[in-house]
Amino acid sequence: MNQRRPGNRTTAVSVLGLGALGAAVARAFLDHGHPATVWNRTAGKSDDLLARGAVLAAAPEDAVVASPLVVVCVSDYGVVRSILGDSNPALGERVVVNLASGTPESARQMADELQQRDAGYLDGAAMSGTRLVGDPGALFLFSGPDTAFKQHQAILESLGSVVHLGSDAGLASLYDTALFGTAWGALAGFLHGVALVGAEGVDPPTFAAVAVRHLRFVTQLMTEHARQIETGRFPADDGTIAVHAAAMQHLIRTSRTLKISADVPELIHTLLSRSIASGRGDAGIASVIDVIATPTGRWDSNFRGDE
Ligand SMILES: NC(=O)c1ccc[n+]([C@@H]2O[C@H](COP(=O)([O-])OP(=O)(O)OC[C@H]3O[C@@H](n4cnc5c(N)ncnc54)[C@H](OP(=O)(O)O)[C@@H]3O)[C@@H](O)[C@H]2O)c1
Repeated sequence: MNQRRPGNRTTAVSVLGLGALGAAVARAFLDHGHPATVWNRTAGKSDDLLARGAVLAAAPEDAVVASPLVVVCVSDYGVVRSILGDSNPALGERVVVNLASGTPESARQMADELQQRDAGYLDGAAMSGTRLVGDPGALFLFSGPDTAFKQHQAILESLGSVVHLGSDAGLASLYDTALFGTAWGALAGFLHGVALVGAEGVDPPTFAAVAVRHLRFVTQLMTEHARQIETGRFPADDGTIAVHAAAMQHLIRTSRTLKISADVPELIHTLLSRSIASGRGDAGIASVIDVIATPTGRWDSNFRGDE
């Protein structure tokens, strides 16, 4: 077995943490021809990676010494801190990429701590699970200093499609949480649809094939609605809020008739109803942002309806 001791800086990248995500990340680096050092707290998770040419580090500090780019894939920021702790003296001049999920505040704090130790820091978010890692279909978000990103962009591109969001380390977590909510909004609607058509005997794959085609239209709406929100003008090109509220009532009624839960359409109907109550019934549907974007339901976008 290849095992490193401190002092050897010979691989391009080190991966600390070989759970579901870390193992996929290390494999992607190796498969794209980047020599990698790996470390995991519990033994036995690196066999496949060693067979692909990885070098096993005996301790986290050995892995940090081994490469200029240090990718950490452990459960949370507390664990990241513990394995990069003060006892790990080798951080200087390394760029640490942290793929653990967390909050923007914890990312900014981690960036400050590592800056004080002369290390670069990129916060990262793996947006496509583990199956696609290493494929261009996998989306990875990064935030932190432009120089650190550019220095290691080529190797990070082994992971998939990469986006650098900006120099504020908190941005990757901010987008991560926003996109998690976006995905779940779409998935909740999809799962409700599966249940609805399923109650009439349609099987899930048959429905999914049509739903996927419909979602192309929905993603186009996102681009158009973003533009409307930006300008504060909400033309009713895709129907008014009142028309959509009536259609949502049909969905609620059909759900009840078919004896499935109406939780998902009821949530959406609540938003549409609040929007109507605030005088937006004749406006385009993107103006629902008005009842979502602030706790009081007031969006400060100089609302101008469909003029
Ligand atoms: N899996 C995904 O699809 C995915 C996608 C996006 C983001 N993420 C995020 O990526 C992070 C890792 O996820 P995962 O799915 O890879 O989790 P996982 O399979 O549970 O792996 C957790 C890793 O953290 C290590 N670890 C936990 N506690 C530790 C400690 N006290 N000291 C040292 N190492 C410790 C584990 O080591 P042992 O093997 O020794 O337990 C293991 O390597 C999480 O923050 C997760 O939210 C995951």
